[in-house]
Amino acid sequence: MREIQVTINGRVYRELVEPRMLLSDFIREKCGLTGTHVGCEHGVCGACTVMLNDSAVRGCLIFAVQADGQELLTVEGLSENGEMNDLQKNFSECHGLQCGFCTAGILMSTTDYLNKNPNPSQKEVKEMLSGHLCRCTGYDGIVKAIEKTIEDNQKKVLQRG
Ligand code: FES
Ligand code: FES
Repeated sequence: MREIQVTINGRVYRELVEPRMLLSDFIREKCGLTGTHVGCEHGVCGACTVMLNDSAVRGCLIFAVQADGQELLTVEGLSENGEMNDLQKNFSECHGLQCGFCTAGILMSTTDYLNKNPNPSQKEVKEMLSGHLCRCTGYDGIVKAIEKTIEDNQKKVLQRG
């Protein structure tokens, strides 16, 4: 066992882990943050996506010990003052989710993507989503929610002048 310290959504977690423990299992089982889901456990479905030091990563492809001393953002950290952020609200309004299993991972990838590429085309949004499997929605509502978020972000920038 090895002790690691990881900051998740601004809170410090210090835990003993086995070196083989996956980051996704650490987040869920040691830290109790079950918003991050685990599907395929081999990097295909995207359900376990979280942000590690400002970049989206697959939690199932990283060992928890590799995140020692690092900062993580999970879906629980997206809300602002206890309310869903704009991206989350748009997923709700545009029917971007049904069962919700894929949703946390898609929200985290989209957050990272829009931080780095604030005005993508629809084709680029779809390419980004190709790293995520959703069995329910057919992706249309997800694309609409992301496009509405891009519009909302642009309006905010214009308002700020
Ligand atoms: Fe990690 Fe599927 S559980 S990509
Ligand atoms: Fe069910 Fe995407 S909403 S898998």
